[in-house]
Amino acid sequence: MVCLGNICRSPLAEGILKAKVKECGLSWSVDSAGTSNWHEGEHPDRRGVAIGLENGVDISHQRARQFQVNDFDKFDLILAMDSSNYHSICSLTANPAQTDKVKIIMNFLSPGKNIAVPDPYYDNRFPQVFEMLTRACEKIIDYYRQDTN
Ligand code: 4NP
Repeated sequence: MVCLGNICRSPLAEGILKAKVKECGLSWSVDSAGTSNWHEGEHPDRRGVAIGLENGVDISHQRARQFQVNDFDKFDLILAMDSSNYHSICSLTANPAQTDKVKIIMNFLSPGKNIAVPDPYYDNRFPQVFEMLTRACEKIIDYYRQDTN
């Protein structure tokens, strides 16, 4: 799960998908990162921690990190929160196989529309972000679970 700062959207996406993976008994490895290093080492935004806890998802232990090129080797799927994140990650790819791993997360719900998970850092839209990510993660589980269990 990748956003810009790795303190608002992608930590929630990581927490939500991890919870669903556990619920479904899958053995997927889930992590998150930011395209920037602006918040490296920080814990998630307290507004995101709060909306998570209200919904039974504890992300308070997470720490921000910057996306690294070796993440292309470590992960099968790299989910960007918006088109800007998508292009930043794609600019780091070394071959078409790496580019194929990068997707815009909301395209699992609305294929080809490139809908952004809105950045809630300035406008507080954490409940909307939580709801969008929950629906997207449910779809992702449905889409891949047959392949992996
Ligand atoms: P995120 O949100 O990319 O969802 O973690 C942001 C966090 C911090 C900033 C921008 C977006 N910032 O400008 O510091």
